[in-house]
Amino acid sequence: MRIVLMGYMASGKSTVGRLLASDLQLDFVDLDDYIEEQQKKSIKTIFSEKGEIFFRKLEHQMLSQVLDTRNNMVLSTGGGTPCYSGNMETILEKSDDSVYLQLSIPALVERLQKEKEQRPLVRNIEDADLPEFVGKHLFERRAYYARAKHIVECEGKNLEEVVAEIKKML
Ligand code: S3P
Repeated sequence: MRIVLMGYMASGKSTVGRLLASDLQLDFVDLDDYIEEQQKKSIKTIFSEKGEIFFRKLEHQMLSQVLDTRNNMVLSTGGGTPCYSGNMETILEKSDDSVYLQLSIPALVERLQKEKEQRPLVRNIEDADLPEFVGKHLFERRAYYARAKHIVECEGKNLEEVVAEIKKML
């Protein structure tokens, strides 16, 4: 059983994934953490030392590696994972269930304002410019996320409610 969670930065993939995995008695794997462990460097450092293209290649390889070698898990991907290098096809082919955690632009902006620092793509964007940035970025990415097998509307729901909704869909 492999369940893959996807969604924009700060949509709660890791928090939801951890609780969902423990509820279902599955392992939890966070793709960003996995990359950091393999590289022995933070995502922020990988971006600043090697750049985004290097990170995307690594992300592509690590996604396949995790899906090929691990089973009985909930995998939380990075916000960009489904949107590059045919990764969405890999996810659909190699997972039993894929879930897009959907949140509105204002909700994502509010969360991102508090959690910008560790995220290379948004850390240098002024708070006032975030709504426009997230709006455009999500518009580009949504087409990928929307290919997930299930879409969970997370707006106005707490963590437990989101997890309960996912469990109903599986
Ligand atoms: C990224 C999201 C990050 C991380 C990297 C790039 C993105 O993961 O993979 O900074 O392209 O949206 P989170 O979604 O966990 O922040």
